[in-house]
Amino acid sequence: MDDQKIASSWFNVQSVPETYRFPPERRPGKLIVPLCKTIPVINLEKATGVDRIHIIQQISEASQTLGFFQVINHGVSENIIVETMRIFKDFFSMSPEEKASAPNKSGWIYTSSTDYAKEGVHLWRENFKQPCHPLEECIQFWPNEPTRYRDIVGTYLVEVKKLSLRILELICEGLRLEPGYFKEQSEVQLLSSNHYPPCPDPSLTLGILRHIDPSLITIVYQGDVSGLQVFKDGQWIGVEAIPNAFVVNIGNQLQIISNGKLRSAEHRAVTNPTEARTSIATFINPSSNCIIEPAQALVNALNPPLYEAFLYKEFVNSSKAFGPDTDAIQKLISSEPECIKGK
Ligand code: OGA
Ligand code: NI
Repeated sequence: MDDQKIASSWFNVQSVPETYRFPPERRPGKLIVPLCKTIPVINLEKATGVDRIHIIQQISEASQTLGFFQVINHGVSENIIVETMRIFKDFFSMSPEEKASAPNKSGWIYTSSTDYAKEGVHLWRENFKQPCHPLEECIQFWPNEPTRYRDIVGTYLVEVKKLSLRILELICEGLRLEPGYFKEQSEVQLLSSNHYPPCPDPSLTLGILRHIDPSLITIVYQGDVSGLQVFKDGQWIGVEAIPNAFVVNIGNQLQIISNGKLRSAEHRAVTNPTEARTSIATFINPSSNCIIEPAQALVNALNPPLYEAFLYKEFVNSSKAFGPDTDAIQKLISSEPECIKGK
């Protein structure tokens, strides 16, 4: 790990260096992107008893039209969310030497992407990716610092996985698939935390390129600083940061399994001039050798299969994995081990 990849102090600059400026057609520009009030905020407390059917309807509707929704009263304790956010903020503020002292197998930390030298324009972020499956085996390799990292992040991941599987069950019911249908395709959990330092000119830079997640679903915690944007009907719309709410988005694997009924939307992260932003994404992914194909129950004469069957590992390495910009993204992740290819 060289210093350049993890030198967050570098971001303390008065103007955006040339190598971080995206060309005009790819940069966010000065256009004001509104925060979208129509991304549904779904109250999961009501997902039991008589209201369950309404919650399933809300989730189905959002997953079909937008591919994004937020959840509140989701069962993950506020305390663990706040502590996990604190851990990652502290983690990213450690010195490059301290970060580099984490054991090798603990994950991958880098500025922008793994191949800083080759990637072209750099992303305005630091990223830490950490394998978490199976949790008991991975946890021993995780960082020890900040204090209680393993304990807190481990608890967070267990709670968020429970929530993810609960949301998948509601989606499963909404699609009228048999209970447990996604069990095999939802085994792997991967954590990816991003730190976006304040940027002197956010109109020139990107925190994450436009992409689609190659997951089943993704659960993002963005704390109280917005920056995530979704592409809908030819426009970018902002996803409001609501403390203690999780953003849920449909990954392209679920779009395929649902035979196109559910939508996996392109999204990106932008920076802002005043506040540092930290986000915590957890992906629920199929394991490498899992076969992904449209569910038989959703395919018939009127709805022929829109996608062919493939092994998940083939898909992740293919030119479709991250949507139209896959080429650019794959250049960014080319040196990542296969098991964690994500962004
Ligand atoms: C991702 C992602 C958004 C964010 O990690 O795939 O889209 O706000 N993150 O960091
Ligand atoms: Ni994403």
